[in-house]
Amino acid sequence: MRHSKIVGLGHYVPETVITNQYLSTVMDTNNEWIIERTGIQERRWMDPAKDTVANMAAKATRMALQRAKLTEKDIDFIVFATITPDYFFPGSGVLLQRELGLESIPALDIRNACSGFIYALSVADQFIKTGMYKTVLVVGGEIQSTALDITTRGRNTAVIFGDGAGVVILQASDKQGILSTHLHSDGRFAEELYVKDPGSSRPHKERQPEQITDTSTFKVVMNGNQVFKHAVVRFMEVINEALEANKLKKEDIDLLVPHQANLRISQYIQEKLGLSDNQVYNNIMRYGNTTAASIPIAMSEAWAEGKIKENDLLCLAAFGSGFTWASALIRW
Ligand code: UT7
Repeated sequence: MRHSKIVGLGHYVPETVITNQYLSTVMDTNNEWIIERTGIQERRWMDPAKDTVANMAAKATRMALQRAKLTEKDIDFIVFATITPDYFFPGSGVLLQRELGLESIPALDIRNACSGFIYALSVADQFIKTGMYKTVLVVGGEIQSTALDITTRGRNTAVIFGDGAGVVILQASDKQGILSTHLHSDGRFAEELYVKDPGSSRPHKERQPEQITDTSTFKVVMNGNQVFKHAVVRFMEVINEALEANKLKKEDIDLLVPHQANLRISQYIQEKLGLSDNQVYNNIMRYGNTTAASIPIAMSEAWAEGKIKENDLLCLAAFGSGFTWASALIRW
């Protein structure tokens, strides 16, 4: 049976470091609150002169290609997970395709927020298994910072989100690789974490920029408590689902790379699964929550630090806006 194997990983984060201390000078917040509730010490925010979602993804891709000893021309399909595309349309996939100097290969955008990367990985996996594509670039990239309300009114989200991009390159293997992916959603909770505008279902006059007086609907709205409660339940469910599907036990997991939403969520899952500190990779302390980019950035760093070894069982899990949640098990 044909499997999809990860043959390259890469990431890029903007150079500008935003500390908790800085945030406390522009809104009513403080380092202690942010660290205690989220674990975040700093995050990266884009430099408008340099960073776009597509060019951060291109930098991450070049790192992955180099590590995999491949070139741009080897890529035959791009799957790009983002909820913050550079343009309202077209998506960032085509911009990345152009940036990489590739002609006519397909590019698909996925907008499943924090679960986006695992959804994208699952889509790519199916295309590889059917033999339709051989080398698929799977991307998570986000610029969240420019939509945040950086005032006290927006402090429950402004302190959390960061920018960055991460990628993996998948190729077919007859031995091992992605064992399974598990995807879910529950649209009843769509408005618990969302950005309403620019939404298309408004009357014509409300959609015209010159008519808009209330711009608060362009910012991230999150009912943090509600998201947190659902997240801890769904993370566990979807990890157990993946283990059961492969007749594996939690003791078999070598490394868990959870979506970096909140260190408290990761620690809760770690405890439930009985994993040690070095079996769970967290970098939210340095980057905050980078939505679809968080898992591939974390995987790329974990790999570079030698934390993912041949034959390891890697578990990915995510939960976020939608609600959507997902997991993947990978035999490295
Ligand atoms: O990746 C997508 C999925 N997202 C998530 O999984 C996020 C899940 N939720 C969370 O991570 C947490 O709910 C938050 C970190 C967002 C908030 O933590 P919390 O412990 O749930 O705090 P809270 O919302 O219950 O707020 C507690 C207090 C409130 O004040 P009062 O009403 O008790 O006076 C907030 O106004 O903390 C206040 N607060 C802040 N204080 C200082 C909210 N944000 C801040 C802030 N600095 N940045």
